[in-house]
Amino acid sequence: MPATDAFPEIPLFDLQLRPEDLRAVADTLRSGWLTLGPRTAEFERAFAEQLGARHAIAVSSCTAALHLAYLAAGVGPGDEVIVPSFTFVATAAAAVYCGARPVFAEIVSRERPSLDPQDVERRITPRTKAVCVVHYAGYAAAADTLRELCDARGIALIEDVAHAPSATLGGRKLGTWGLAGAFSFFSNKVLSVGEGGLVCTDSDEVAELARSRRSHAMTSGTWQRHRGCADTYDVTGLGFNYRTDEPHAALLLSRLGGLEADIACRRELTERYRGLLAQLEGIIVPFADADVAGSSCYVMPIMIEADARQAQVSARLRERGIQTSIFYPSIHRFSAYRERFGEQSLPITELASRTELTLPLYPHMTHADQDRVVAALAEALAR
Ligand SMILES: Cc1ncc(COP(=O)(O)O)c(C=O)c1O
Repeated sequence: MPATDAFPEIPLFDLQLRPEDLRAVADTLRSGWLTLGPRTAEFERAFAEQLGARHAIAVSSCTAALHLAYLAAGVGPGDEVIVPSFTFVATAAAAVYCGARPVFAEIVSRERPSLDPQDVERRITPRTKAVCVVHYAGYAAAADTLRELCDARGIALIEDVAHAPSATLGGRKLGTWGLAGAFSFFSNKVLSVGEGGLVCTDSDEVAELARSRRSHAMTSGTWQRHRGCADTYDVTGLGFNYRTDEPHAALLLSRLGGLEADIACRRELTERYRGLLAQLEGIIVPFADADVAGSSCYVMPIMIEADARQAQVSARLRERGIQTSIFYPSIHRFSAYRERFGEQSLPITELASRTELTLPLYPHMTHADQDRVVAALAEALAR
């Protein structure tokens, strides 16, 4: 088999479940109740408490959480939602689900690839209903400045916290700065269980909407009917099947207990990566000056200073058994977005997309594997 088809020896991300995680899922499967139910409610309570938010509503994905958050912000047909283009497509797609137009704003720089509040301000129009800030790689974007800007203009701030559970800005948890936050529990995330997401909010109205719409806006759920609390239901709006299920909730609840320890390992490895990477010529290490204590250290991005070397360097690392990825190709350059919303130029974002490489990082990564990644990168850059 050619090396490129084989599993990488050092993958981008690796998941190791503990025996108690497996037990939690097995117990749930034995319970015979698999859809939304008591374990989901318990996970929601635990997550909300750990985050310091009034409400947490577990859903099937972060994409679903973003959709519900935008709907709760009143985003509808003809509205605009300002988002970065340097993010996963879901941040923008969820606005399109609402019939809105995603308006792409620039990142600050390759050193700080987070949404630029000044560029956001320039792009506000009377149709702007929401701004979505992404805390890229687990590092806080300027949610404080954006919050002030949005409050002054009567615009909702939504946080895409897919990368940043437990991360903070000025001591305050990310996800609690805006009207609502959207978390991801996708398989390669910091708190990963395969598929899953969550809406957090301090607003009772937003929580009510998210809770209702995640299950077809029915006035009672299957669990309540099973428990004899209701025989029938009304449907009070256009809802979705964005439910999570009990095995995922049980795994989330179990893994939540190990979240801070996992993040501590990520922080140690990130600091170590920074030290090693500082010795290499020809790369920029984003957020190199950011205190890891405020970050969830989700991924280890680098930017190759020279343009047009990304494919060559990643191919060289792949030959050495090391997986890399691009976080992220610019959304505004995707064919579907160009066709639907027209051509747009965002030079800093485009350069970041053309030069970024994400290096392997996971809590149990060994120092020897880190050394291998950095040595292979040094060799690839020198060619
Ligand atoms: C920044 C960002 N937003 C949203 C999502 C979507 O998350 P999910 O796969 O849970 O829908 C992701 C996941 O890759 C992401 O990285």
